[in-house]
Amino acid sequence: MAMMDNANQPLSFAADEVDASQPDPLTGYRRFQLGAFEFSRDEYFARVAWPAKGETHSHLIPADAFLRAVMRDVAWGFFYGWVNFDEVIGTRNHYGMVDLYAGTFNGVLKQAGVDYLETFESPRIMATFKAILHDWVNEGFDPFAAPEETGSAFGRKHGDNAEAIERFRVATQRMPGLPDDSPLRDDLPVNRQFADVAQDEPEIHAEPGFAGELHAFNLFKYLSRSDVTWNPSVTSVCKASLFCPTTEEFILPIFHGNDRVEWFLQLSDEIVWEIADKNDGAPRARVTMRAGDIAAMPADIRHQGYSTKRSMLLVWENATPDLPQRYESGELPPYPVEF
Ligand code: PHB
Ligand code: FE
Repeated sequence: MAMMDNANQPLSFAADEVDASQPDPLTGYRRFQLGAFEFSRDEYFARVAWPAKGETHSHLIPADAFLRAVMRDVAWGFFYGWVNFDEVIGTRNHYGMVDLYAGTFNGVLKQAGVDYLETFESPRIMATFKAILHDWVNEGFDPFAAPEETGSAFGRKHGDNAEAIERFRVATQRMPGLPDDSPLRDDLPVNRQFADVAQDEPEIHAEPGFAGELHAFNLFKYLSRSDVTWNPSVTSVCKASLFCPTTEEFILPIFHGNDRVEWFLQLSDEIVWEIADKNDGAPRARVTMRAGDIAAMPADIRHQGYSTKRSMLLVWENATPDLPQRYESGELPPYPVEF
């Protein structure tokens, strides 16, 4: 999410921090090494390999899904807690250090002892992930776009799409549209699925002496023009309370395992959430949220959302320092309310 370390940093990377092969003569893609992990891709799949029980184990992820997940991990600076690319591969943020794991949070692989975890300094894993995006994202593919609004991720290497993976990320200081704060982005077109969203702005009448201290904008209009999906951006900041609205279409490219409680307020349309145990991935619930519904996502689960029609979601995050330790130690229960 945009509040994290790497938000608004250009997607450049220190080449000397990245261990990459020469391009494969057939597919054109490079292989990347990070500790004992190896990343490679072919026309359809990303392959992640790691050592376990004296052998090399590997896991395939469709290239489009893999690139969408890595794009989120990079853009959000590894986010809060766990970013699972799928049931096997993911990262855990220790804020300065990052775990990369295979199978560690998959009950079956963990029990079979073929899991593997390695911890890296954040800049190093960030540089590798950025280099993978630069090399593996082909011309025409936008990992932030809904599938209907982007070209294909597949095939042999053809061109690149630095513009899509380096696009400006919203990082609001207080509220969009204030002087010196993030812009309202009226230059972006209204999305095809939000053609019915009113485009008027509120009138602001400040009492004498309060001009410049009162501000308002049309959040629905703002979101109707979002050109990215599944990318909550900090859009209001009040002490540790961060409102992070986002527009959603198709599938959240990661399963997020949170290290704190977060709240979802469904602003429009409908999202179905698959909820699973944070540690082993066992299914726990399916939650259908319709416009106006609000839910607290507990601190001991992972979740992935599905949105058929593009929808608007407000993610409400709590940036109070020390929350991860307070949940991990059991000082705080994993849910916000005792019924
Ligand atoms: C989440 O993991 O809470 C999350 C991430 C991205 C979104 C929405 C929710 O777009
Ligand atoms: Fe989450």
